[in-house]
Amino acid sequence: MPLDSGTKLGPYEISVPLGAGGMGEVYRALDTRHDRAVAVKVLRQDVSTLVGVERFLREIRIAAQLTHPHILPLIDSGEAGGVLFYVMPYIEGETLRNRLLREGELPVSEIIRILHQITDALAYAHAHGVVHRDLKPENVLLSDRHALLADFGVAKALSDLSRSGLTATTNLVTAIGSTVGTPTYMAPEQVGGNMVDQRADLYGVGVVAYEMIGGRLPFQATSAQQMMAAHLTQAPDPITKWRPAISVRLANAVMKCLEKKAADRWQSAADLLAEIEVAGTEIKTAAPVETPNELTDHRFTLSERICRKLNRATLDPRVIGDHLSYVDNQVRSDVLVFFLPGLGLDHADFESILQRLRYRGVSPTLYGCEPERCGRISLSLADHVVILRELLKDVKERFHAETVVIVGYSMGADMGFELLLGSADEPTPRIDAFLSLECNLSLDTCFVSRLLAGIDPAHPELSIAKLRGLGDSAASLDEWLNVEEYLVKVLRKFQGDIGVLQRAAADIVRLFSETPGFEVFARWFCGARERVRALRVVFSSDPRTRAALARLKLDNLDKGILGGEFPGDMITVSKNVDHFKLMATEHVVRQVDELVTEARAVSD
Ligand SMILES: Nc1ncnc2c1ncn2[C@@H]1O[C@H](COP(=O)(O)OP(=O)(O)OP(=O)(O)O)[C@@H](O)[C@H]1O
Ligand SMILES: [Mg+2]
Repeated sequence: MPLDSGTKLGPYEISVPLGAGGMGEVYRALDTRHDRAVAVKVLRQDVSTLVGVERFLREIRIAAQLTHPHILPLIDSGEAGGVLFYVMPYIEGETLRNRLLREGELPVSEIIRILHQITDALAYAHAHGVVHRDLKPENVLLSDRHALLADFGVAKALSDLSRSGLTATTNLVTAIGSTVGTPTYMAPEQVGGNMVDQRADLYGVGVVAYEMIGGRLPFQATSAQQMMAAHLTQAPDPITKWRPAISVRLANAVMKCLEKKAADRWQSAADLLAEIEVAGTEIKTAAPVETPNELTDHRFTLSERICRKLNRATLDPRVIGDHLSYVDNQVRSDVLVFFLPGLGLDHADFESILQRLRYRGVSPTLYGCEPERCGRISLSLADHVVILRELLKDVKERFHAETVVIVGYSMGADMGFELLLGSADEPTPRIDAFLSLECNLSLDTCFVSRLLAGIDPAHPELSIAKLRGLGDSAASLDEWLNVEEYLVKVLRKFQGDIGVLQRAAADIVRLFSETPGFEVFARWFCGARERVRALRVVFSSDPRTRAALARLKLDNLDKGILGGEFPGDMITVSKNVDHFKLMATEHVVRQVDELVTEARAVSD
């Protein structure tokens, strides 16, 4: 029963209703003793009866000990005619709920401010042994630049009640539960009715943050039951899906709040607060000094299941149970970028890109090309592709990637095409975008591969003669310097154990020798165009590449081998960029960003 204006609850004279929640109504009132405006929350009659004066006052008393600039203080509490009420300062402003309803997503600086303030309030409350348990935008009051957390202690009184299993009142508890403890912000352990601690509040902060950043909840559900099930079992979409421009740090901080297991979340509000502070400083700094993503090394086991897919005729049994090395930049994102290095290179060449990337980035090193490996076992190009496909499947699933981008450099780009095209019995998982950085075009562009293919590991002296010959075949001084640099790097790393390089190089050369002209490239290009939403085939402005491209254009003019007019929007030349500069961090990061946007625009 709503209270009429003028009703007196002790010294508080009700004036107008301010709003209602699941437990009761909030009124604006006059504190007659001090002649000031206050807000009085009056619990529903049935809730009051159920909670009981004693329990209510006990919990409220604990909450009343909290004094913090971002906790709405408790002025008074009491009971009048069987109805429980408590009194707080009247806040001129609005709830975070209203703000979200009006604006959807909030500006980042404001999100940081609100998160900082409510997490600070929680850190304080937790340090005093009080868990809020009912974090939601309705309980965050905004007044100027201040966020105030309301309703401490009330949820505790109610949750004690629902756990005490009062069967006669089950219906009522359920009725209250469905409105008071709206499951939208509940941590999985709360849904499950388990014991909760401060980490449940951090889950709530995660949901509120997700809503402020993404303008939507982590889970969509049409009923309370569905929502509860989602908290227990469904993985939330990474927040970057809805707001890709958000800083990696902030995104990761929020997603960590939403971990299902409390042990995987931030362990204390103080820890989360420290992270939000850093995220805030990053945003304030004019030139974004981004903290590089942390790269971790991993091993992907070449299990028997995988080895069965390799060419049995040439399979070396030492491969079974061995591993493929890869690095992971650990960014929480639903975009996965899979980087394929050039022949003889390894993930180290993608390091600075992986550190800067705002998406999940994984880069394998081809089997046998790891810097530290002793006794390298060589595999055919096709087998390398099979292994890469298995790794891609694995990480795509594990990281819940929705958009997959492949970036291949040099022979890594050749392998990227082979991976994309797949084989009849081993389909490749869906790939949304492909960035090829200087794949081979024709036998002519494979000149370094040709050199490596021609080296006989059993007679390395031959190779020196061949290396000398390379100087003559270089099309320009720059090319010669670059190739020398590459070979010095690779040959030093492999220390004469170059069978791995020789075999993969020979396979590429064979591919291009078997079919004349641009047939291989045309097959790759047309196949890739059919399969991905966004495709970019980028070449350097090295003279050899430019010459090959010029011939490709003529060939396409005569025979339309690329499936129609020359696709100048997809096949591009980077001006004043040589083969190695194609890997410049800025260059790659920008192109990946563009491809992701393009792929998403197509899918929407
Ligand atoms: N101290 C206050 N000053 C001004 N307005 C307030 C104050 N406290 C609450 N309100 C207003 O009253 C409304 C209802 O608050 P109430 O706490 O009853 O609802 P709720 O938080 O949605 O639900 P619950 O009962 O689960 O807490 C709020 O949305 C807000 O607009
Ligand atoms: Mg409330």
